[in-house]
Amino acid sequence: MKITVVGAGNVGATCADAIAHRELANEVVLLDIRENFAEGKALDIWQTAPIHLYDTRTVGSTNDYSKTAGSQVVVITSGLPRKPGMSRDDLISTNAGIVRSVTEQIMHYSPDAILVVVSNPLDVMTYCAYLAAGIDSSRVFGMAGILDTARYRAFLAEALDCSPKDIQAVLMGGHGDTMVPLPRYTTVGGIPVTELMEPARLEAIIDRTKKGGGEIVNLLGTSAWYAPGAAAAQMVEAIVRDQKRIFPVCAWLTGQYGLNNLYMGAPVKLGRNGIESIIELQLNEAEMALVNDSAAAVREVMGVLDGMRAS
Ligand code: NAI
Ligand code: 2OP
Repeated sequence: MKITVVGAGNVGATCADAIAHRELANEVVLLDIRENFAEGKALDIWQTAPIHLYDTRTVGSTNDYSKTAGSQVVVITSGLPRKPGMSRDDLISTNAGIVRSVTEQIMHYSPDAILVVVSNPLDVMTYCAYLAAGIDSSRVFGMAGILDTARYRAFLAEALDCSPKDIQAVLMGGHGDTMVPLPRYTTVGGIPVTELMEPARLEAIIDRTKKGGGEIVNLLGTSAWYAPGAAAAQMVEAIVRDQKRIFPVCAWLTGQYGLNNLYMGAPVKLGRNGIESIIELQLNEAEMALVNDSAAAVREVMGVLDGMRAS
């Protein structure tokens, strides 16, 4: 079995490393447009195999898609990352061109692949890959919700001085400042978080989660990679091991939550066939209003992409 990661930068290399380390495939192909860059990263990752004691081979490729042929899952991380002062949406025109051409080449060599998109602005880049791939939306989706809930869970674990393992949470909406963490669906060892924390403290954590990407951009001068790479690898694992895990994933909505023809974060079941079902929570009026606001923000950026395609 082969898995490809396109983009050997911070997120792509971290993701390939996690996939290899967990032996999710026999071979991981890391591809980048920069001459020899993916080859160098892949060689470094492969040289951890005797230390970590695993068999998965990681190989690099400078834009030679024939090496990716027959991939079961492809993670697309190619594109510019966010710099201080940039919103995720500022990246749209450059990254749309990159994601479109990468997707076309991937589908040419791996027509049966499942695509996991990471490039930003996430919801709209996933839409872009869907349009370029021409395959069922159950096989094209984006990574954001696992990262955003991981941030939320990490902040909660710190505040409650408890293990992050015990915190379960759902988050919906676009991968931007309008994302919607859902306290009613957040538990700590099975206990509703609202029983363990004052509303104001919880609200501050929700606010920090929404701005979690920007917090790291401001600290590092570029966007995060350890948690995004690990999150994408967790999605790959759920697929190749047919785990049927329930994760928030950027999925194509076709009437769920009253929303149509839009890529946005929602809880799904992830297994061998990609998205096996989209779960519809019984949201209350206030939660639904926040989800609708987030959907409107995503649609606005989708409109920019559609405008670019039309011109
Ligand atoms: P990076 O700059 O470290 O790596 C991007 C890589 O893409 C570079 O090595 C570049 O050479 C490569 N690339 C550019 N055009 C290409 C093409 N046509 N074909 C193949 N490779 C190409 O950036 P980083 O930090 O790895 O971020 C990658 C993307 O992921 C960015 O768009 C970033 O905003 C996004 N991101 C998304 C997250 C999410 O939650 N969905 C979280 C973190 C980052
Ligand atoms: C993040 O959330 C910027 O999307 C990137 O870290």
